[in-house]
Amino acid sequence: MSTSRLRDFSRIVFFTGAGMSAESGVPTYRGAGGIWKEYDYRRYACQEAFVRDPEAVWEFHNYRRGLVARCAPNLGHQIVARSGRRSARVTVVTQNIDGLHALAGSSEILELHGNLWRVRCDTCGVKQQDGHVVREVLRCDGCGGWWRPDIVWFGDYLHEPTLDAAQAAIAACDLFVSIGTSAVVYPAAYLPEYARKAGARRVEINPDETPASELYELHLRGPATEMLTRLADGDAELLA
Ligand code: OAD
Repeated sequence: MSTSRLRDFSRIVFFTGAGMSAESGVPTYRGAGGIWKEYDYRRYACQEAFVRDPEAVWEFHNYRRGLVARCAPNLGHQIVARSGRRSARVTVVTQNIDGLHALAGSSEILELHGNLWRVRCDTCGVKQQDGHVVREVLRCDGCGGWWRPDIVWFGDYLHEPTLDAAQAAIAACDLFVSIGTSAVVYPAAYLPEYARKAGARRVEINPDETPASELYELHLRGPATEMLTRLADGDAELLA
């Protein structure tokens, strides 16, 4: 790589997954301690489950709210936010629903899988943004329908304008940094391919290899906080 620091690029996309928040204490989905190892998504994270038993689905999501509410952005979130203040244009395209990028101060954030702290009425579609607290009122004040977390569950479609905006940002970027995603969930997992087509420099930060690893020019095998620190500092050995 000829350019060596985050701030040498003019349009950066950070593409983040659960590994980004792992060092904040938010459990990942797969691998050791992964959420889907302990909880069956067919009972807690799909529309069919919600229709069958909305209270059980809310119990699971309030449990997750409780977990995440105790977590703070880590150094990696802060480096991403700081580069947004320095660089001409930074977009965070995240699969995470935890809201930690916003808490760290990033401003341009595209949440592909929604937000754990926002609810949507399952009947009338109205939305409400909550604070980082568990939700007690489960029925829409307007129509009496069930509130559901405004997140993308298994089998749901992604919000198309958000996906389009992510593709546009990636098509225009000169640096694409993937952080902590297993790259197995589509359509998000297609996005690195847009960066390759755009001719952007591509860096993968992940302790492990992923099915998308071959799309990247540089692989930083380690935790997000340490690898982002090295990238931000322009570690000469690393980028030589
Ligand atoms: P996964 O749990 O599938 O993958 C987490 C990735 O983070 C793995 O590849 C780990 O190797 C890596 N990792 C773990 N600790 C790390 C650290 N400290 N630093 C960097 N990387 C680390 O999470 P996602 O890829 O985000 O969707 O999962 C994608 C989607 O699947 C989620 O958005 C969620 C889930 O089902 C929905 O809920 C719709």
